[in-house]
Order: sequence, then C-alpha cells, then structure tokens
Amino acid sequence: MHQTILILDFGSQYTQLIARRLRELSVYTEIVPFDTSLESVKGRNLSGLILSGGPSSVSDVNAPHCDPGLLDLDVPILGICYGMQEMAHLLGGSVETAPEREYGHATITTCNEGRLFKGVPSELRVWASHGDLVSLPPAGFSVTATSPNAPVVAMEHVDKQRFGLLFHPEVGHTDRGTELLNNFASGVCGCIGDWTIKSFVDEATKRIKDRVGETDRVLCGLSGGVDSTVTALLIHRAIGDRLTCVFVDNGLLRMNEREQVENRFKKLDLQLVVEDATDLFLERLSGVTDPERKRKIIGATFIDVFESSATRHGPYKFLAQGTLYPDVIESVSVVGPSAAIKSHHNVGGLPSSLSFELVEPLRELFKDEVREVGKALGLDSEFVWRQPFPGPGLSVRILGEVDGERTALLREADAIVSQEIKRAELYREVWQSFAVLLPIRSVGVMGDERTYEYTIAIRAVESADGMTADWARLPHDLLASMSSRIVNEVKGVNRVVYDISSKPPSTIEWE
Ligand code: XMP
Repeated sequence: MHQTILILDFGSQYTQLIARRLRELSVYTEIVPFDTSLESVKGRNLSGLILSGGPSSVSDVNAPHCDPGLLDLDVPILGICYGMQEMAHLLGGSVETAPEREYGHATITTCNEGRLFKGVPSELRVWASHGDLVSLPPAGFSVTATSPNAPVVAMEHVDKQRFGLLFHPEVGHTDRGTELLNNFASGVCGCIGDWTIKSFVDEATKRIKDRVGETDRVLCGLSGGVDSTVTALLIHRAIGDRLTCVFVDNGLLRMNEREQVENRFKKLDLQLVVEDATDLFLERLSGVTDPERKRKIIGATFIDVFESSATRHGPYKFLAQGTLYPDVIESVSVVGPSAAIKSHHNVGGLPSSLSFELVEPLRELFKDEVREVGKALGLDSEFVWRQPFPGPGLSVRILGEVDGERTALLREADAIVSQEIKRAELYREVWQSFAVLLPIRSVGVMGDERTYEYTIAIRAVESADGMTADWARLPHDLLASMSSRIVNEVKGVNRVVYDISSKPPSTIEWE
C-alpha cells in the first residue's frame, strides 16, 4: 500500500490542484469529502492529512466542519486557507473577518524557521484568496509568516506537526509553492515518493489480471480518445487477446479519424472491431434539430450498435471503461452546474441489462497522469495531447439538422482549423479549437458571382478543466488564414466568424 496523503475537501476550486501537485511529487493522494469520519480513515497507510480551502466562513451556520477526531490523528496535518481557519477554530484560536477580502498576489515575510519554509527566501509572493483570517493562533502554535494584510499568514505547532497556510501553495502564482508542499510531504510527513507511473502500470496490470482471471474476456468501447485507448492498452498488457475493442464509426467523426484509430491499433497489435454505423446514425438523426434529442438519439444508437457487436463477438464477462479520477471524486467541489446543462454521454451510459462487470483501470488517475501512462505504454505524444472531442461528435457542432452533406462540409472546415492552429504551434496551448457549422445562409460575392451559402464559426477556448473557459485571443493573422482557407477550400461556405464568448454564460460546444 502506498504512503498516502488524504485531502479533506472543503469545496475550494483548487482542491484537485493540491492533489495533482502532490502526485507530481510522486506522493499518492486522495480527495475525500470534508465530513469523512475518523473511523473510515483508520487502517489506511496515512502519511499526512491536508484540509483544503473552501468558500465558507468557519462561523457560518452551515459551514462545513470536519470530524474533530481527525485533528488528533498521529500524522502531520496541513490546513490551507479555509483549512487553516478550520484548524484554528477547532483548536481554540481566533478567526475573524478580514478588514478587506484579499484576492490576488500578496507578499509575505517568513519570520522564523518554519519547517514548511525551509530552503525558500524569507520574502515570497503568494496567491491569496480569503475573506477571513486567523487573528490568534491556537495554544502551542507559533506564527511562521506574516504580511501587511494578515498577522498570521502561516502557523505551526512543532511538537504536534500541525501547519496552517492562509494562502494557496498549490496555485502556480505562488512562488516556490511546490517546494512548500514538498517540505510538508517529504520533509514533515516522510513521504519517499513511491507513487510513480511505472509503479502504477505494474500494479494496475496485476490488478486487472487478478480481477479478470485466466479465461474470461473483456470488451472495451473505444471512443478513439486518449482515455479509452490507454484503458485498452493496460488491459491488453494484462490479458492479451482476451480483450476486444469496439469502435463505432457513427459518421460524425473528424477527418481521417477512423483510419487513424485503425492504424494506431494495428501498430499496437491490438484487436479492433470497427462497426460502420454511419447510415444508421444519419437515418435516425434525419429531421432532428433539438440538441438534447440529438444527444439522446446518438446515445441510444451507440448502445444498440455496441450491444449487437458484443452479442456477435461475445461472450464477455467484463466491460472496460476509461473513467478518470475527477469523475469519481465524491466531493463538494465537483458538483458544478455543468452536469445538468447538457446530457453528456460516454460509453458509460450502457444499460444494466447488458450485465457486464466493470473494469476501470484509470479510476485513480488525473488526465495528465493518463497521458504519462499512455506514453509509457508506447503512444506517441501527438496523440496523447489531443484536444477533447465530445461523444456525440460533429453533430453538436452542426446547428439544426445533421445530414451527410453538412457533416462532410464541417469536417473539411474543422480540418483546416486544426491544421492552421497546429501550424501556429498553438494546438496544445488552447483547450479546444474547432469549427461549427451554422445552418443560416448569407449573401457573398465570389469572382463576379453572387453567392448564398453557409457560415462557419471558429471556436477556440482556453480552459483548465472545461468547466469554465475563456475565448482564446488567437493572432489575427492566424484567424485570417483560417478564414481565407475555409472560404476558398470548402465548397458551400462564404463567411467565417469568430466566437468571442466565454463559459459561462456560453458553453464550449454550441449544442
Ligand atoms: P460544454 O459544451 O458543456 O463542454 O462547455 C465542456 C467540455 O465537455 C465536452 N463535451 C462532451 N464530452 N460527451 C463528451 O464526452 C459529450 O456529450 C460532451 N459534450 C461536451 C466539450 O467538448 C468540452 O470539452
């Protein structure tokens, strides 16, 4: 069992970032809800505990509080922002409303030999985001940093190994933040860094072997994306050809996508069944304009095709899914509004009548770790850094009715956007960049001819996780070359516009 640092989540937008930073330090970390009981963590190989930040005030009537017994655990504990205030509150210190809410950069002075500040300068620029502050630390704590705006920016109880930071070491804007976290994880908690991609691959392979046994078979629904491909690779490593991957060509894929998937799998020597269901999908989508109905039809059709493929090639006892850690964290911070806005469908929405047992080897990984695992298993870096692509494919980027002609047109425009953004070396900098087909026609002129054709919208956004996003400030020259290529090369388009809306209030996809 790996040395583990648990993070109690009090709802900060940065909680997952704490976990990712620690994982980067090769420390295994899990995020658990703030009300996790002392009882439930007993028996775990705990090296330390972190109380995350959060939006509440400890004195609010409905403020989240942890099981006070956790603070008596015989492991080092670090409270960050709200977590520090919670620690002060529960251990008898004073927490007050700050004269002014502090948000943004702050310069702090570390005023004695605090263990978390070992090896860093005595003046640090940090990222602050708090409305309350600790005015008096609990008995036994010394103040290890101050700032003009807060008397207690950091505190420490040397004997009990309790630490508090009012700012966010996990955020990139904090100078030397990773070193502070490393001072906690390695210096105080004694973590030796036993969580590595190699150890994950070896352990995951063994777990799959144990789970699936010597004879049973596994079916893997392949989206063509990184998560399902890495899932397939890991399972193949464990059970070889008892894995079958099914890729459904729904006719809503990007340019050459199916061929790329086929070639990749051939190269990796993995068994792949491709179900060509283009006609079925387009037939069922015919005449449908409502975005939610499109998504539902695609979800249901996918299941039909998948089910019939499974029956023909089966039997399979197990179904593999590329579920990632952010999907399984049972925490306050992931309950965002987006889940209810669009019915996202993945291969995950299979009906229970299919009665498979699930294998989800990536359940404990973040996306960047999945990419690393992919690379370790032989995937090329161009593929592992692909931008996200929605399950319903191009259909949610064709406003109004989807048909073969419009899909082909969008596919061409989308390929141009993708080629140009790669040429400008911005593909990895933006979260997503793609084309959207608007079903309206407008007047144009080409040569001496009047035209009356479709409009393409270019969408490019920057985002950390897809939950919020800002439109990317692409260079005008790049937009110009996308526009002129689309109008010149894609027959049926005479106008290109750039989408300058952020999420919220818009969403990334148009439907
Ligand atoms: P929105 O449009 O809701 O998208 O701002 C947020 C992120 O989710 C992706 N997305 C989907 N992914 N199935 C998926 O697997 C879907 O139905 C789906 N809809 C949107 C979108 O591309 C963006 O990255």
